[in-house]
Amino acid sequence: TLDKFISPSIMVPKIYEYAEYIKLFDRYNLSVIHFDVMDGHFVPNIMLGSSVFDDLKVMTNIPLDIHLMVTQPENYIPIFNVTKGDWISFHPETTNHPYRLLQTIKELGCRAGLVISPGTPISYVEESIDQLDYITLMTVNPGFAGQTLVPNTFNKIRRIRKLLDSYETEIDLVVDGNTTPENSINMAKSGANGFVVGSASNILKSPSTFGKFYEEYMAN
Ligand code: DX5
Ligand code: ZN
Repeated sequence: TLDKFISPSIMVPKIYEYAEYIKLFDRYNLSVIHFDVMDGHFVPNIMLGSSVFDDLKVMTNIPLDIHLMVTQPENYIPIFNVTKGDWISFHPETTNHPYRLLQTIKELGCRAGLVISPGTPISYVEESIDQLDYITLMTVNPGFAGQTLVPNTFNKIRRIRKLLDSYETEIDLVVDGNTTPENSINMAKSGANGFVVGSASNILKSPSTFGKFYEEYMAN
């Protein structure tokens, strides 16, 4: 069975808190940090860029998961100085050739993922199944932290998990959006094993309570 993990969403802490949080991520041996990239076009918001990415790379060796919320993601990947072991995911409807782009990501030595928005059909997953290392299911509409779950979230997790099980793959199923401790329990029951934790999670409430809430979250 797949390991449970969290991926803290680095768009949520304040810049001046980064150093303190990164130390905690290292101390707790987190396997990945979620890095949102928005172009103001695919989603109505703009953040984070390559200079923040470079700064994080100086601070930690934990892999970054670049979540590309942009049109034509193939044009954005060369902007980031990724290293082997980083994760890159994009929304399949934003590119003409999602399959080829997954191949490109893997050629960089990165883990490749598709992100499925609430209105996006899960059939994209099946068409690319042999190239996928993970799937991120958006459990809110992409673009902003602090939203509530879209209806039908748990059903969509179950449908994707069932599809993955039918292929007997080891593809991680990550959920992104409103992953409160309570929601995460039901998300896990529905088949998610990775949790992007943002403003909805106690884990990023403050550096001083990080450890306590992280341990509680993982124990659930
Ligand atoms: C939203 C981003 C998320 C965001 C989730 O488009 O993809 O990563 O940080 O944050 P919360 O937990 O506030 O929903
Ligand atoms: Zn995200």
